[in-house]
Amino acid sequence: MPRFYVTTPIYYVNDVPHIGHAYTTVAGDVLTRWRRLWGDEVFFLTGTDEHGLKVQRAAEARGITPKALVDETAAHFRDTWDGLDIAYDDFIRTTEPRHYAAVQKFLQTIYEAGDIELGTYEGLYCVSCEAYYSEDELVDGNCPIHMRPVEHVVEQNYFFKLSRYTDRLLAYYAEHPDAVQPESRMNEVLGFIRGGLQDFSMSRTSINWGVPLPWDPKHVAYVWADALFNYCTAVGYATDEARFAKWWPVDYHLVGKDILRFHAVYWPAMLMAAGLEPPRCVFAHGWLLVGGEKMSKTRLNQIAPADLVADFGVDGFRYHFMVDQRFGPDGDFSYEAMVQRYNADLANNFGNLANRVLNMAMNYCGGVVPDERADGPLREAAASAFAGQIDALARLDFASGFGSVWDLIRAANAYIEDTKPWELNKQGDADAVARVVGDCLESLRIVALLASPLIPNAAHELWRRLGLTGRPEDERLPEAAAWGRLPAGASLDKGSPLFPRKET
Ligand code: ME8
Ligand code: MG
Repeated sequence: MPRFYVTTPIYYVNDVPHIGHAYTTVAGDVLTRWRRLWGDEVFFLTGTDEHGLKVQRAAEARGITPKALVDETAAHFRDTWDGLDIAYDDFIRTTEPRHYAAVQKFLQTIYEAGDIELGTYEGLYCVSCEAYYSEDELVDGNCPIHMRPVEHVVEQNYFFKLSRYTDRLLAYYAEHPDAVQPESRMNEVLGFIRGGLQDFSMSRTSINWGVPLPWDPKHVAYVWADALFNYCTAVGYATDEARFAKWWPVDYHLVGKDILRFHAVYWPAMLMAAGLEPPRCVFAHGWLLVGGEKMSKTRLNQIAPADLVADFGVDGFRYHFMVDQRFGPDGDFSYEAMVQRYNADLANNFGNLANRVLNMAMNYCGGVVPDERADGPLREAAASAFAGQIDALARLDFASGFGSVWDLIRAANAYIEDTKPWELNKQGDADAVARVVGDCLESLRIVALLASPLIPNAAHELWRRLGLTGRPEDERLPEAAAWGRLPAGASLDKGSPLFPRKET
């Protein structure tokens, strides 16, 4: 059984979860549900990044200990993911003992390999990024990402000798052109590497909220040097070598473009230094903007997932962010666009199809799945929806992948318009009606199956209404997507609208 390992970033606990965090996390969930349908053994990891200056200061500002702060916010992230039906396999927190063990073993290995050395650092530091910037990277003297002032810092630190990895990284990417996606991000990474890599400081003595370096415990690991290792900790590095060997290297690190460099430059170099393989793919998506700007605490434009779930349901939320916001470029979020998309795709296309077909089956076929099939144009439409979905999801193009499933929905609605079962019924041609309804029911089954990674609740409910037992996620692709598997004679249930229309 193939194994498939996917991660989200581990989020900083100084912030509360917003739709930006949810975006990456839902994508990971949809991708891993899709792979589970194919029978892969999946490991889907998320968690929280709990060390560093930013967290220490956030705790100080509230007059509580860092530990109290991180416990509170980590719980908040977990609740948020539960509220979005995120089926993660593990939720890692960097303050856990297993992670301390992994970071210490990892850093000790790199230290002994000779790629960590002591030096003095003087530089401009952005606490929000937990990263140093050079003068020319600043925008009007501010951090280019947060647009806030940087701090002048002088410290004696340990350095990771990143400068030694320029050629090895370039050689690696030349051999693995898909290891950074989309392609535009690969170009960005190559440009950065070719520009020359600087050693980076990977320890701090100015704070104590972190993992102590095993060979010099006055220093704690720099938050990024600690955080990136979570991906190894969670699959058994330092605690279960067999398990680690099974899961490493990771298949996908899903990240936002803000942390591409850490994942596609620093991280593979550190892995190489420790004698481990780089990630198979770092996929960096764009930013969700609100009113044209990146969400941030200071701009007060953060949107909590729960607020949108209250209006659109879990499935409505998941659908919107995966289909309306392309996974790659930046995209602007707007509530109005969300209402429109929900009404058009979920309430109208999807909801109407389910409603019409089940109604016809109730009225014309005695409320059971007929024996007959027309094996008409929907058979071909279903096969091509499935093929299109496979192709697009292999590129993590969620919008096209599920768009392809919606093509089948549109084809089924069009088929009903063309064949007019109500007229066939009036003409008394019961067999002809049954054949058309049979094909539509079969299409609904395939829609429920293929849409289940995205809208698991509605898919399961539709499954049940079609008289099917179990859940779509118990099925296995590709067999389950084959035409003609809906058992005849099963009792149907009409139910109420799956996605009630929103007023605009
Ligand atoms: O960077 N649009 O954590 P973080 C899209 N702890 N995605 C967004 C987003 C937005 N507006 N805002 C946040 C960190 N994200 C580190 C990561 S990993 C070893 C350590 C998502 O809380 C996106 O995935 O700042 C982005 O990369 C991540 O949240 C940053 O989360
Ligand atoms: Mg951030």
